[in-house]
Parts: sequence; C-alpha cells; structure tokens
Amino acid sequence: MTFSKSFPDNFLWGGATAANQLEGAHDVDGKGLSASDVFIFDINAPKETWLDQWAGMTHAQVAEAQNPASKKYYPKRKGNDFYHHYEEDIALFAEMGFKCFRMSIAWTRIFPRGDESEPNEAGLAFYDRVFDTLRKHNIEPVVSLSHYEMPLTLVTEYNGWPNRKIIDFYLQFATTVFKRYRNKVKYWMTFNEINCVKHHPYVSVGVIEENHPALEQAKYQGAHHQFVASALATKACHEIIPESKVGCMISYQILYPHTCHPDDIQACEDAQRVSLFFSDVQARGAYPAWTERMFAAKGVELQKERGDDEILRQYPVDFVSFSYYMSSTVSAHPEKLEGVKGNLITGGIRNPYLPESDWGWQIDPKGLRLALNQLYDRYQKPLFVAENGLGAVDVPDSNGEVQDDYRIDYLRLHIEQMQEAIADGVNLFGYTWWGPIDMISASTSQMSKRYGFIHVDQDDMGNGTLKRTRKKSFGWYKKVIASNGNDLS
Ligand code: BG6
Repeated sequence: MTFSKSFPDNFLWGGATAANQLEGAHDVDGKGLSASDVFIFDINAPKETWLDQWAGMTHAQVAEAQNPASKKYYPKRKGNDFYHHYEEDIALFAEMGFKCFRMSIAWTRIFPRGDESEPNEAGLAFYDRVFDTLRKHNIEPVVSLSHYEMPLTLVTEYNGWPNRKIIDFYLQFATTVFKRYRNKVKYWMTFNEINCVKHHPYVSVGVIEENHPALEQAKYQGAHHQFVASALATKACHEIIPESKVGCMISYQILYPHTCHPDDIQACEDAQRVSLFFSDVQARGAYPAWTERMFAAKGVELQKERGDDEILRQYPVDFVSFSYYMSSTVSAHPEKLEGVKGNLITGGIRNPYLPESDWGWQIDPKGLRLALNQLYDRYQKPLFVAENGLGAVDVPDSNGEVQDDYRIDYLRLHIEQMQEAIADGVNLFGYTWWGPIDMISASTSQMSKRYGFIHVDQDDMGNGTLKRTRKKSFGWYKKVIASNGNDLS
C-alpha cells in the first residue's frame, strides 16, 4: 500500500512577515511607537552584545528611544519600507504564485497608544489597501493580531501584560479589525510565538525587568492574560466573521535528549512541556495538570478571575500554527557540554549530527516531520507551518544576482519532510516561508540576516536604494508552488 505524499489541492503556499520588521513608516499617518520600535542596531558594538536587548530591555534604553534627539539607529522604524512598496512587493509575491500571505496588523497604526477609545482611520485605511491588493492577486491574507509589537505606552504606562487592563485594550483592537476587515480576512492568529515569553519577556508581554522584581510571576501572569485575551478574541472573531478560522502560534524548537540516560530524557521532556503548555491551553482549553507543580517550583501564583478557566475551555482555537527553524538537545548536566552558538537566546546543547546556519541555528529538516506528527497527535487539529526559513549572508554576484542555492536546499529538505508528515496522516493546510522578502531581523535587528526570495538593497545601518531584486530561490519557489509541491528538482 502506498501513502500519498501530495499536498492537498487548496494548500496555502506563501510567505510570512511581521509589520514591525517590514513596514517602516513608523511616524506616518498617526502611527504610535511599538515595543519593537525601540530596538537599536549599532554596527560598532561587539557582536556578542547584539542579542542583549532582545533578552531584556531597560528603562534607560526605552527613555533614550523616546527622545526625538536620540542619535541611535532604530532599524524597525525603517523596516524595508513595505508601507510605501506594498503594491510592488505583493505583485512579486503574486508572480511567485503565493496562495496566502501571512502578515501582522501593527496595533499602533490602529490604536497608537493602545488605550484610546477611537481607532485611527488612516491606519485602518492602510490595511484596506493592503488587503484589497492581496485580493486583486487572489492571495489569501493570514493575519497575526500581535507579533512583538504592542504599543509602547502599554509597556511604559501600564507595565505590560501582567496588568489585566491590557486584555480590554487588546480586545478593543481585535474587535475593531475583525469588524473592519470581516469581508477581507478569514484566517487569524492571536499572538505570535506566545510561548517565547520565557526567553524574551519584554517583547512578548511588555515586561521591563526593573519593574517586575518577581520576573517569573510577571511572565506567567502576562501569559495568562494573553490566554484569556486570545480565547475572548477567538469568540469575538467567530461571532463577527462566522466563517473565520483562528489559530494559536507557538515557536516549536524540537528538543532531543542529549543521551539516552533517563535523566536526560526527563530533562528533555520537562523542557519540551514548558514550551508546549501554551498551545495546550489554547488548543485544548485548559492548563495541563503538571503546570501546578511547575508554577509552585517557580514561586508563581497565578491570579485568575472567576470565569477565566471557563473562558479558556469554551473558546479554544480552530487550528495550531508554529514556527520551525531548528532543533537542539537537552542534558541534565549542561555545564559539562558544548552549548549551541547563536541559537537565539533559547540555549540548548549542540547536536553533533547537524549542520548550522551562518547564525549558528542548527538545521534539522527531519525535526519538522517530528514536530508535525507530535503536534497532530497531541491536538488533532489542522496544522499550519507559520514560519520556516534560513537567515543567511547573501552576496550578490557580478551581475547583481544572489545565487542562493543554500536557501533552495534548505527549503527542499523541509518540504520533503512535510510530504512525509502528510503521508503519515497529518492534516497540514498551509506553509509560509519566513520571510519572502529581506527585512529586519527580529532578534538582532540586522538587515544582513536575510531570509528573502527577494533581495532588498539596504544595509545594517539603513543605507541603500531599497531596490527589490529576485534571487535564484524566487524562481525555484515559484516552480514548487505551481506544481503544488511536487516538483522539487
Ligand atoms: C521568529 C519570529 O521567531 O523568528 C520572527 O516570529 C523572526 O519575527 C523569525 O523574524 C526569525 O528570527 P530572526 O531573529 O532571525 O529575525
């Protein structure tokens, strides 16, 4: 008996982006500053410090960023200027045959401070134009409500998501955009990589460590409020757009025990569960029993209001989406072993069997098949690969073209593993490559960490013409989509 490896007919092939890394135009048409608009990039700073802000922002850094006289460079304010290039960029996505485009709505274009009672019409009108352009090209929008870009005011004046008031501000934003775009957007995601709060609480839940001496409490209280907000947004979305599909989105970094020693197996299981309980809550509608023990060990006492558990139970998500870039290993005794280099700030022990990217991320296509099977076994809900990609140093050749065969290889190997997962019986309905066009890196704020099929002429300090050029991978992905994933030659 053979098992079909074919992608379903209506499979959503596309690319994924986030407003804060792409749009630029941070002060245009009434936009307010977001949490991500205060990340600097300094080419003269030692490389090993480039991830520091991502791990934790300080008051002094935020205050300096709010000062119009600051001389620092803030790359996410500039993005790749999609705000003024969206027609050209979407036409290029259409040329590749995109069926869908994952993007986020910048909360600060709609509610610049986050606590206003009325939305900003110019911000709403911008996304009307974007969605209309996508429709013109038959590209389905897949929209994240929150992708590391909450209004900065909600961080500085409200102390972020540990404050329950943020649920109301988020719901006001969510219902405003559901109503406005009810005829234009069917697929929604409530929070990008909701499980990453443990690594970068500032950008995930708006927590500046100095404000929250009990950091673990602040992180998980913030996450609890996001769970409630996500469930209520799911409810509202279904009411306003009956045919809508709402998903959760987690970062799924597959973990392997470093050895078969039972202590390593247990350490690995513990680490993986800490990551997966976020989608457990959102997809199954309840905290797993073991989290009580974990919270006790961390000294966390969740403040829940009466009715919270019922809200989580009643309004789980329709589908589960995730980002998948890499795997790493876990040891009960990490101090004796070599750690992964440059693997974001997620840590882990180096896997001797895997190659790594220019940024030290260990490349593991087979881990994607495992991830898909694990998540499908666990939730039995449709899955969507919301991010997968290779950040690399791209050097244009003498004709100005980027011959990125390494990116094609990465993509081919991951698509092959999705085929295997489909043959295993996994219900997978979409795949969006991160990111189809070069933009600012989330973690290091570099432009030179390029993922795109489309090269953008801009350097790490924001110099360049912004000209868009097709890379070799552009034509390759186009062929893959045209053959619905069958032609990987
Ligand atoms: C994911 C984020 O974690 O990884 C994206 O959702 C991000 O926003 C992507 O861009 C790649 O990470 P980086 O740091 O290389 O841009």
